[in-house]
Amino acid sequence: MGLVEMKGILQKAEQGQYGVGAFSVANMEMVLGAIQAAEELRSPLIIQIAEVRLSYSPLHLIGPMMVEAAREATVPVAVHFDHGLTREKIKQALDIGFTSVMFDGSHFPLKENIKRTKQIVELVKPFGATVEAEIGQVGGSEDGTVDTEVSLTDIEEAKQFAMETQVDALAIAIGNAHGIYKGKPCLQLDHLEAIHEQVDLPLVLHGGSGIDPHDFKKCIQHGIRKINVATATFNQVIHQVNKETPYRDYFSHHRDVIMATTENVKHHIKIFGSDYKV
Ligand code: 13P
Repeated sequence: MGLVEMKGILQKAEQGQYGVGAFSVANMEMVLGAIQAAEELRSPLIIQIAEVRLSYSPLHLIGPMMVEAAREATVPVAVHFDHGLTREKIKQALDIGFTSVMFDGSHFPLKENIKRTKQIVELVKPFGATVEAEIGQVGGSEDGTVDTEVSLTDIEEAKQFAMETQVDALAIAIGNAHGIYKGKPCLQLDHLEAIHEQVDLPLVLHGGSGIDPHDFKKCIQHGIRKINVATATFNQVIHQVNKETPYRDYFSHHRDVIMATTENVKHHIKIFGSDYKV
């Protein structure tokens, strides 16, 4: 087991009709905590870091650590580069050994998104890694700096995009948003169902933090196979660390971060139904 390609994880999820969490990590403790959760629940796992987060966690440092931790895991773990924006960073992630990359061209007009995504698919081929792309616009932004309006994925465009780019997984916009939802998330499940009927690819739901278990399950029924979770882990860590008011030594905080991550990842694995699948 250990380090695997993301495509295989998603194919098995399709056969078993469950979802797999892609958990964002920012440091070694989160990597350890996420893998511990997956090992305890015998679940496949995806760990990921987004390009906008590299100013905090440089890719040449955190990348090899993610890959090495995945190699040592006793469950299948894919290491994914989330929201890749530049060819240079995507190539660096592949050189380090990431088994999956996302190119996010969703802010470009369709034709340009297709053209740029195809270039990334060609770049990735010799590495044998998985490619995820996005069509339509998920709300908010990965690091909270931009408040992008949700723009629902157009079904015909999604069909054309999948056919022309030959990507392995497709992130779609159905009312989901990154970060903290303003009010209760209102996912357009009928729209998801219609996309699923027309597009024969594993679908990806970004903005997993704050969606309720019932909606997650509905999304999984309608073809969502990868679910991205970032903010919920970071918030759980802050909550855990702030819980203890008296001074505690640094290594207690270190353990808190691992524990909080494990707790949050286990919580989501159980909802997504990927537990006891390996
Ligand atoms: P959240 O921060 O809302 O969980 O979104 C994560 C995500 O989609 C990363 O790409």
